[in-house]
Amino acid sequence: MSSKTITVDKDKCNRDDLCVNICPIILKEKPDGYPAVKSTEADSCMSCGQCVAICPTGALEHSDISLSDCPPIEKKLIINKEQAIQFLRSRRSIRTFKSKPVAQRVIQKLIEIARYAPSGGNEQNVEWTVFNDKSKLEKLTALSMDWLRYEITENARGDVASYAPHHDILNDWDSDSRDGILWNAPAVIIASTPADTHSAMVNIAITLSYLDLSAPVLGLGTCWVGSFTDAINKWEPLKEEINLPRNHTYNYAVVLGYPKYKFLRLIERKEPVIRWQT
Ligand SMILES: Cc1cc2nc3c(=O)[nH]c(=O)nc-3n(C[C@H](O)[C@H](O)[C@H](O)COP(=O)(O)O)c2cc1C
Repeated sequence: MSSKTITVDKDKCNRDDLCVNICPIILKEKPDGYPAVKSTEADSCMSCGQCVAICPTGALEHSDISLSDCPPIEKKLIINKEQAIQFLRSRRSIRTFKSKPVAQRVIQKLIEIARYAPSGGNEQNVEWTVFNDKSKLEKLTALSMDWLRYEITENARGDVASYAPHHDILNDWDSDSRDGILWNAPAVIIASTPADTHSAMVNIAITLSYLDLSAPVLGLGTCWVGSFTDAINKWEPLKEEINLPRNHTYNYAVVLGYPKYKFLRLIERKEPVIRWQT
């Protein structure tokens, strides 16, 4: 028995077929010239909202999507090509932060933006674990350093070369308490998904990229922290402290804070390697 319903208000529908043409899955029936969905198929709809968003007359009624939650796209807010390119090219990792804390409502706002990221099958099941308490963050750094020390002393087995970055971070920590893992950031955010999610790690990466790209809009900066993510997944005392939901085996962390410095120039990257196939 289907629980989702997708119906067309025939008084509003102008039969332009836009919804039929963009819906990849279910809007295929047109019994009387109007788009329709078999009730048996409605549950295979991903609730992506493309049908609602494409309709110029607001004729689509979807049980999962309220038209009042779908404001029109405002032309005056669309950024131009140069703005888009500079915005994307000027994004940088931030590793030096002001000591100013990041308030919960600000982090909430950032996550509210990041949740518009796409996800496989529109599952939208990336969840967030946030730390923004200074003493807690100090504890997370100390535990991460414990992990590094263990990796170097117990796990390296003479493989000094591949552990060189670990050595540097630990030396800096031991000599002058320089935090090369969480970068003394006022907040750390961990995105995670349940283990049984399709495309789990990709969903996390895209959602964190949205968060990363949105941060400057709120005056914030981020840095992905693979080393901390490694520590979370390999060091039991840290894992316990982070306390992700038990089945969230996929996760990744970024640090967050108000950048202390501003970058003034764009930089170059490697030329893309492209194979044009014929
Ligand atoms: C998946 C991933 C993991 C990363 N892990 C770390 C890390 O553990 N520590 C760190 O300081 N930077 C880390 N970075 C930041 C990269 O070093 C940085 O993105 C890269 O050098 C390019 O610099 P930019 O981000 O300023 O353009 C990571 C970035 C990515 C995408």
